[in-house]
Amino acid sequence: LFDLVKEGGWHLRPIPFRHPAIFYLGHLPAFAWNHIGRGVLGKGPMDPHFDELFERGIDPLTEDDAHAAEREQWPSVAEVEAYRDRVREAIVDCLTELDAKAEDDVLADGGRIVHLVLEHELMHHETFAYILHRMPLELLARPADLPDLPLGTAAPAPRRLEIPAGAVTLGADFDSIPFGWDNEFPRTEESVDAFVLEHVPVTIERYRAFVEAGAYQDASLWSDDAFDWLQRHGIEAPLGWRREGDGWRLRTMFEEVDLDDAGAWPVFASFVEAEAFARWSGARLPTEAELHRAAYGSETGERTYPWGDAEPGPAHGGFDFTAWSPTPVGQHAPGASAFGVEDLMGNGWAWTRTPFAPFPGFSAWARTYPGYSADFFDDRHFVVFGASWATDRALLRPSFRNWYQDRYPYVFSAIRLAYDA
Ligand code: AVJ
Ligand code: FE
Repeated sequence: LFDLVKEGGWHLRPIPFRHPAIFYLGHLPAFAWNHIGRGVLGKGPMDPHFDELFERGIDPLTEDDAHAAEREQWPSVAEVEAYRDRVREAIVDCLTELDAKAEDDVLADGGRIVHLVLEHELMHHETFAYILHRMPLELLARPADLPDLPLGTAAPAPRRLEIPAGAVTLGADFDSIPFGWDNEFPRTEESVDAFVLEHVPVTIERYRAFVEAGAYQDASLWSDDAFDWLQRHGIEAPLGWRREGDGWRLRTMFEEVDLDDAGAWPVFASFVEAEAFARWSGARLPTEAELHRAAYGSETGERTYPWGDAEPGPAHGGFDFTAWSPTPVGQHAPGASAFGVEDLMGNGWAWTRTPFAPFPGFSAWARTYPGYSADFFDDRHFVVFGASWATDRALLRPSFRNWYQDRYPYVFSAIRLAYDA
């Protein structure tokens, strides 16, 4: 992913709410050293300035906060790469020492801190992929052997499936999985009433009708706050759509395409757009527990994946970078859940209407990272469920949780419509 950035791209801030691209090159090693070397092994700094500069990303709630977090000066790519290489070597050198602490440190036990560092990096693959979608195309090095995009215009008509009432398990017991983030614990049981869910996510073509019906100008579909946000930023369509003549162009990773050619792809939008679309459609967004019920529930108990217990593979869904984009919805029938819902794991996260919050009994158990989740329990972040094409398969476990700010339009997050039964 880093090889895709050309010289002039590193110091750009493709997303004003995030640091420039160069931050991520330094963030992964700084994070590794701060958690393993300093945090668990009590060693000194690798580089006092870089350890601190690259320690944490930003997720400001307002533009003023984003502005305040801006820095004038970032180091060069060569300096950051040299730092990265030193960290790599030092980390490899101290793994034996880490292992020796397994008995008296929960973070060393089973290499939990190593899992934490590696999963953090995997999540940043996705962060970086959506940041690159905001990078000017001429600053991206398009790979020579790029396959054609899996475009498509033919999507199945959404079928409304009745999901029967039942119990769902959210999260996991601490000792039942090799590693989980703080927000995954402890295991929680919830019961879900019967409800109705469309069998595929909302497509671009369907969302386009909403845009063209004037929804972005209709205050009655949005909260005051959300409508104000549209007005202030002149938002009239999802991020990445660009009006051209009578039609639209859509930004993908390496090229712009005619929006109509991608009409069967799931639409990616922010939570507030997803909510407005649901309202306009006479539907609502599902809850986190409802999507767990739809994904893992069956007549005979809960499964590991929507399709059952088989290891995730490319037939089950669009995840793990098997493509640089989504695919038309409804093309992963082998990944359908017991209740017949498709594209649950892959082809885009699904917005839920569940604010990101701790399970009863939550504790920020990873002492080197107390703010991983707790900093976002603020009712402005909402849970997203599933996976996108840029989600590593290591993150597909049922207890894994992800979340974004309600007005964060950058992510590969789709819309699924639910209805009361
Ligand atoms: C869990 C994906 C919301 O990207 O903000 C990376 C992951 N946290 N570094 C994010 C994360 C700190 C986080 N998400
Ligand atoms: Fe991070």
